Amino acid sequence: MHPITPAMNSFIVRAIGIIHSPYLSRDDAPRQGRFSDALVTLEILPEYCEGLQDVEQEPHHIVLYWLDRSDRNKLKAIPPHTGIEHGVFATRSPDRPNPIGICIVEFVRREGNLLFVRGLDAIDGTPLLDIKPYSADLDWVQQ
Ligand SMILES: C[S@@+](CC[C@H](N)C(=O)[O-])C[C@H]1O[C@@H](n2cnc3c(N)ncnc32)[C@H](O)[C@@H]1O
Repeated sequence: MHPITPAMNSFIVRAIGIIHSPYLSRDDAPRQGRFSDALVTLEILPEYCEGLQDVEQEPHHIVLYWLDRSDRNKLKAIPPHTGIEHGVFATRSPDRPNPIGICIVEFVRREGNLLFVRGLDAIDGTPLLDIKPYSADLDWVQQ
């Protein structure tokens, strides 16, 4: 087994933007973005706008964000819909060592550095980490 070296255990991840949503607290936000059709705005920082070329061509995107108001010390979670405790990696809890959130969002429109989307559960002010096109061929799994 390879050891985890200090260089492998520390990363610089820079926000590419900020999420503006109608949810002001954790309790306001839907459990998953899919359960809401509220319009949410992704504000992309000017230095990353060049990377937005052609985003309009995709109807859905995978959005990754940093759940900055999470408890990173939790290794167990009780999902509200089951009430049963699990290891955090068996759940979608926002409270986890690396609180990265993921949603597949519907693209609505672009206005310059602003992307309007539906289907996101992040609270207002959440740092945006990445946007990738959703591809049914690559991402959809029949269960
Ligand atoms: C269950 S998590 C799911 C996140 C993402 N869809 C996923 O599966 O990785 C969604 C919840 O995270 C909480 N949340 C949203 N934005 C947050 C933030 N910036 N910091 C901490 N918690 C947040 C809200 O309570 C929201 O209902």
